[in-house]
Amino acid sequence: MNAPVPPAETLRAALAGLLDGLPPRQAAQAVDRLIASYRGATPTDAPILRDRADVAAYAAYRMPATFEAVRSALAALAGAAPGWVPDGHVDVGGGTGAATWAVNATWGGVRPVTVLDWAEPALALGREIAAAHPELREVCWQRSRIGAALTIESTDLATVSYVLNELTAADRAALVDAVAAAARAVVIVEPGTPDGYARVIEARDRLIAAGFHVAAPCPHSAACPIVPGTDWCHFSARVSRSSLHRQVKGGSLAYEDEKFSYVAATRFPAAPAPSRVIRRPQIRKGQVLLDLCEPDERLRRRTVTKRHGDLYKAARDADWGDPWPPADH
Ligand SMILES: C[S@@+](CC[C@H](N)C(=O)[O-])C[C@H]1O[C@@H](n2cnc3c(N)ncnc32)[C@H](O)[C@@H]1O
Repeated sequence: MNAPVPPAETLRAALAGLLDGLPPRQAAQAVDRLIASYRGATPTDAPILRDRADVAAYAAYRMPATFEAVRSALAALAGAAPGWVPDGHVDVGGGTGAATWAVNATWGGVRPVTVLDWAEPALALGREIAAAHPELREVCWQRSRIGAALTIESTDLATVSYVLNELTAADRAALVDAVAAAARAVVIVEPGTPDGYARVIEARDRLIAAGFHVAAPCPHSAACPIVPGTDWCHFSARVSRSSLHRQVKGGSLAYEDEKFSYVAATRFPAAPAPSRVIRRPQIRKGQVLLDLCEPDERLRRRTVTKRHGDLYKAARDADWGDPWPPADH
């Protein structure tokens, strides 16, 4: 029997198929238009993803990156809640469904899934792509506007990925309150920029006020030790570049790194990382420098040397975003 195809590969193949028959110039133009809209004034009164060309461009160009960012955040949640498997999922502002693919890549199997978005063409394309994966064929794609009137049915897991950026402050608050009321676990992902981080912290504070505990990336649920305006907490996920990427951005790099900020929080008890590696480790001769967020609400640089034996080996393997020390140390 053939081994099952991993969701990431099925997604990649489905996205590649989207652009079949679309002249490369037209695809590149749709991406340019999209990037210009995202650079313009958001929030907007109406969806940015207006038609199939916009949505196909978004999916082919951005979905692999949002998928990998959400998958990294979910892996951190799974690490903090090892026995837990969500038995339902709602993805708010889910667009073409990157987070539903990421949830499936983290916890395989079939569960009730609802994707809410106000852009009908995004939902339609999400449904079309999901048809490529047997475990995502029953997903419910539902039109819904985020705002004061938003209600979400109770579920185990709610995801909000790359959405807060498109909302007014009032709608961001309403959305976080709605997911906090509906779900036992909430994962919020934003671009890894100072503004994206600020929106994540705002949501984190609101989730904690609603009774949630932070499962990742922070080692605690107390205040973030970063002094506002001096730095921002973000991570990096490696993404294979599609042929559309290469057309639009030029160059021949096979990968790019998607920077993202996130918070994963739960109502149930979870085991956050003892500390978290918050920058790319620096490997020097005989030593590794690790920048850590630690449980006493401080940021510290720790130097791990050969004298630390196995811990030194672990430090050489440690990556930006990992828990520290690893579970087996
Ligand atoms: C950048 S896309 C992210 C899509 C998807 N979550 C992902 O990670 O790939 C933002 C999504 O939020 C949706 N959105 C923005 N404002 C919204 C609102 N007020 N109500 C419902 N959906 C909204 C957009 O239609 C779009 O699909």
